[in-house]
Amino acid sequence: MPDPAQINTMFARIAPRYDAANRVLSLGTDRWWRHRLVAAACRIPPQEVLDLATGSGDVALALARVLPAGAMVQGMDFCAPMIAEAVKKLSRTGGLQAKVAFLVGDALALPLADESIDVVTIAFGLRNLADRARGFREMRRVLRPGGRLLVLEFSQPAAWFRPAYYFYLRQVLPWLATRVTGDRAAYEYLGGSVGAFPDHAALAAEMLAAGFVPVNVTRMTLGIVALHEGTRPLLLA
Ligand SMILES: C[S@@+](CC[C@H](N)C(=O)[O-])C[C@H]1O[C@@H](n2cnc3c(N)ncnc32)[C@H](O)[C@@H]1O
Repeated sequence: MPDPAQINTMFARIAPRYDAANRVLSLGTDRWWRHRLVAAACRIPPQEVLDLATGSGDVALALARVLPAGAMVQGMDFCAPMIAEAVKKLSRTGGLQAKVAFLVGDALALPLADESIDVVTIAFGLRNLADRARGFREMRRVLRPGGRLLVLEFSQPAAWFRPAYYFYLRQVLPWLATRVTGDRAAYEYLGGSVGAFPDHAALAAEMLAAGFVPVNVTRMTLGIVALHEGTRPLLLA
């Protein structure tokens, strides 16, 4: 599992170039992946949303754009420079200030009351948590019974595509990322963490074990990315 202090420092370093790197390294597909997450989150329109590991805030801002008046989105990240990028973006958007708040906070010790949130989203953040089981416990604690957790994360693609994909992750991505961000180490970490992350079935099993029932999985882009949706049951299991 990653060391939280190192992860925080690494994201602080790349924060100013984070969005540009995402667009280049995913060839623009990251917007589509986040769009699928936002659509799933809003299928049953929530009032209180928590976007964990919000980074530069793209998911939180996209949620705020589509949710009706009265809904509130909290974007939370433990890396202050990432939150600063999100706040800058928020100040450039007209009219969203009343619907979004960006806060520094740790996903492993959420500064939120039990059963206070309708939907928790986390996009490309779960992989970076130092203790996934503890993260899931916190997410479940703050969700109301019947509330939903949506995890958008890299996954393991179809077997025939893995050699080409891992070649991209280990060779091409660090090279390309160095040109965009000047930070090779961060993107070597990215490649390594993606390769080491559980596949969609193993992650679904972890979520079930953490008390999210049922868990539904949507695989995207040959399985490179998966969207897992788990529900905190209405009744105690
Ligand atoms: C790859 S970025 C994802 C950002 C954003 N969700 C997106 O879709 O672009 C991962 C984020 O997870 C954050 N993070 C890692 N561990 C965290 C923790 N324990 N609590 C809160 N944020 C965390 C990092 O600071 C970083 O901003």
